[in-house]
Amino acid sequence: MTSTTLQRDTLRFITCGSVDDGKSTLIGRLLHDAGAVPDDQVAALRDADGRLDFSLLVDGLLAEREQGITIDVAYRYFSTPRRQFIVADTPGHEQYTRNMATGASTADAAVVLIDARKGVLTQTRRHSHIVSLLGVRHIILAVTKMDMVAWSQDAFDAIVADYLAFAEAAGLPTPVAIPVSGVNGDNLVQHSEAAEWYAGPTLLQVLETLPAAEEMARPFRMAVQGVSRPNLDFRGYTGRITSGVVAVGDAVAVSPSGIRSHVERIVVMGGDLDRAQAGQSVTLTFTDEIDVTRGDVLAAADAPLEAADQFEATIVWMAEAELIPGRVYDLKIGTRTVPAQITDIRHRVNVNTQEKLSARTLELNDIGVCHLSLGQDVAFEPYAANRELGAFILIDRLARATVGAGMIRFALRRAHNIHRQPVKVDRRQRAALKGQKPAVLWFTGLSGAGKSTIANLVEERLSAEGRHAYLIDGDNLRHGLSRDLGFTEADRVENIRRAAEVARMMADAGLIVLVSLISPFRADRAMAREMMGDIDFIEVFVDAPLEVVETRDVKGLYAKARRGELLNFTGIDSPYEAPETPDIHLLSSTCQPEEAAKAVINHVRAWL
Ligand code: ADX
Repeated sequence: MTSTTLQRDTLRFITCGSVDDGKSTLIGRLLHDAGAVPDDQVAALRDADGRLDFSLLVDGLLAEREQGITIDVAYRYFSTPRRQFIVADTPGHEQYTRNMATGASTADAAVVLIDARKGVLTQTRRHSHIVSLLGVRHIILAVTKMDMVAWSQDAFDAIVADYLAFAEAAGLPTPVAIPVSGVNGDNLVQHSEAAEWYAGPTLLQVLETLPAAEEMARPFRMAVQGVSRPNLDFRGYTGRITSGVVAVGDAVAVSPSGIRSHVERIVVMGGDLDRAQAGQSVTLTFTDEIDVTRGDVLAAADAPLEAADQFEATIVWMAEAELIPGRVYDLKIGTRTVPAQITDIRHRVNVNTQEKLSARTLELNDIGVCHLSLGQDVAFEPYAANRELGAFILIDRLARATVGAGMIRFALRRAHNIHRQPVKVDRRQRAALKGQKPAVLWFTGLSGAGKSTIANLVEERLSAEGRHAYLIDGDNLRHGLSRDLGFTEADRVENIRRAAEVARMMADAGLIVLVSLISPFRADRAMAREMMGDIDFIEVFVDAPLEVVETRDVKGLYAKARRGELLNFTGIDSPYEAPETPDIHLLSSTCQPEEAAKAVINHVRAWL
């Protein structure tokens, strides 16, 4: 057996600064003075006059940045005899909160740059607040460009006092403050001769002595990335150990299932290990044949993980399109992806003042505290205890783009206290009594396209054939069950959720359900489809051009909307996302409603 190779101590830090405060120069100079830049690269940094431009060392990624890459964090690695460092460098513009958040989410420390001439800026407060929110435990204030204020101790002291007052009021960690000059390298690696009044440590000394991540001391956790089954005799679970240590013979609990077993082998590339620790990627086998799948988390049996499907979390919103409460997003936590909805926005945080503001949505770069409801239980730890198992991202299901990042504060217990009541008579029995196969026919289209007219005709024909059908119509729904809802995107999502929920129950009762709703958004129609489970869901697109329905304008609503008397009107100032692959496509402006209804009946007759 090979023995465990102990990994060198690594400190991860992030640099935060505003545009033009010399961040690149400072990092470049730090890397250079710490001996982390090879000689041939140093030669390339000389400008025409033979002077070294350290910012060139780290600005190489600028071009990429300008191409608008979504999450853009440059990581740099260097080491000194005492420790290894990973620096996350992120752009300073306000619109890059999401990049900062990405870099900060794994950092142990943040170096916050303050230009000695400018002092503490709004941006400084904003960055500090975000890094602390993301669990960065140490803040180092680098007061830069001290040479430009003639190394004035008064200037330095005033800035530090200003920052300390802010940090205390905001509940941030107390920082270490260092006067530096990036261009000349004062107090980065070498003590400055220019500032005799400063007797504290250099930036590198602080970075070398800060306590790094405490991952090793925490209980064992590993998110399962895959199941390895090369032959019938071997079944192993692969992943990266996020915290703690595991040894052969250790008792382990699987979350969320709660199954327990003991570690039989720890397999790595070159052979077997007796023990492995945080940061290592391993394959574990167990003494029992247990059921473990990708996305499960393995934990020390004496410190098992929680599992829940409802959370309170802090969310950083990263998309141009605002967050829609009630809409289904994909949530990826560890190695598991599950459907999730934001059920409630508790408040939005003003990152400059720490004020809690009431909010109905989150916009680009907003940070808010929200309640989430997931499609199934997931294993987790609060972010404050474990940044890997407490962090998640939210993904737009259609565009497949990351729209938010979140940090779990705690689980909400509500759902655990409400158990599903098992029912004895099932759908098949109820449907059999009616001699039919239940289904949901979902009519979508612009207001005035003819959805309700056609759906009514379909219901009539079905009844005439002795089928039991029921039509849920948008206008009627809005007089009762959805009386409290308007036409904002969020209200429509909720309207559709309610209609789909009722449709599901009715189909469960054995009925053929017709739903007639504008339901303008693809994501929400997809949600309705998913809510049906194994009940047949047939999307019927009642397709009429806007010009036609607007000219007809049976209810006079299009004219009102054009006059600005009706807001968020579909087709006018609120979009309609046409189905891409409807099950039935009716061109309702060029055929009679009777024909359209017949087409629907013909389509469904085969299996009803
Ligand atoms: S949905 O978007 O939530 O699916 P729903 O089908 O329930 O809409 O309601 C649409 C009906 O409400 C329309 O047929 C129209 O008569 C009426 N209505 C009133 N205001 C609006 C609006 N702003 N946008 C669309 N329809 C509206």
